[in-house]
Amino acid sequence: MKKLLTILFLLCLCACKKETLEDKLRELGYNDETIAVIASMNETDQERFLEAYDEKYAQILTSAYFQQEHLQDYLHYYGELPVDKMMELVDKGLLNDNNLAQLQEIYQSDYYIPAYEDLYFRYLGKYATIREMMEIVNTKRYLPLFTDIQEADLSKDPLILVNKYYFLPADYEPDDLVNVESAYGKGQLREIAYEAFKHLHDDAIEMGYNIRVVSAYRSYDYQVAVYNKYLERDPMEVVDTYSARAGLSEHQTGLTADVCIPGWYVDDFHMTDASVWLRDNCYKYGFIIRYPEDKTEITGYMWESWHIRYLGEEAATEIHQRGITFDEYYACFVEDHE
Ligand code: DAL
Ligand code: ZN
Repeated sequence: MKKLLTILFLLCLCACKKETLEDKLRELGYNDETIAVIASMNETDQERFLEAYDEKYAQILTSAYFQQEHLQDYLHYYGELPVDKMMELVDKGLLNDNNLAQLQEIYQSDYYIPAYEDLYFRYLGKYATIREMMEIVNTKRYLPLFTDIQEADLSKDPLILVNKYYFLPADYEPDDLVNVESAYGKGQLREIAYEAFKHLHDDAIEMGYNIRVVSAYRSYDYQVAVYNKYLERDPMEVVDTYSARAGLSEHQTGLTADVCIPGWYVDDFHMTDASVWLRDNCYKYGFIIRYPEDKTEITGYMWESWHIRYLGEEAATEIHQRGITFDEYYACFVEDHE
């Protein structure tokens, strides 16, 4: 009988103690969900939550990533990154004091592409800056050229990316090509690009620059001939720095023009005032300089001051203001990633 009373007394004591903990937590502001998690902890960890209610505790305790053994780290890194991302990285053992600043730069970057997260980790520390590393990853430049070539996504028109990683089929030909009138140069462009070019040309004339189209739409077969002609002169690895292989030239989109002013060769166009005006103003008409001087590593082509690409004003302005390439703009703001 005495033994039974003792057991009953102990059971009572336990119940009271549990009730006390839950009551206290509830008084502090914890809800049932957080109380249940805290109640399952050892006493030392529980103490922390009994000091006071804190919104950060609630966020941590209710996260799908919560693992009690990582509690100290969650609290240590709380506020440094979005809570769930921080907890996910802690759980995977990927977050530490040494890489925190780098990871913050990655996750806070405008150029962060969630689908490439693993690649950012793979190339962490392999480039001079985080920005450089992300630019390389975003534009696939960590891959050897001409590998993993995917078909260009025409549904993004006019933001169709064609480069050394995205090709146009041999039979792709735009159905709205128009002839460039002789006052504006020669060749064919898609109507939307031609209308924009005419505005650019007319305003350039006002500035004293007669900027004209010298090469525009090029079919797949024509590009085969262009590329092969260059191969008679230079080895393939050199030709690849200035001429696109057939299917990989954005001239095939009908949205691209090589431009120049009378009396000059395109190769020297960069020495003219007209090229400086074009570089600084073409975005207002929806064009970009597709292969800029300081981005040859990213575009895969040498500087072409004469090669403009129509994207529409919004994208062209964004690219101009950010000082990025279409390759990266496309990856970050246009492309669908699984
Ligand atoms: N010159 C550019 C890269 C082209 O051939 O399309
Ligand atoms: Zn060109």
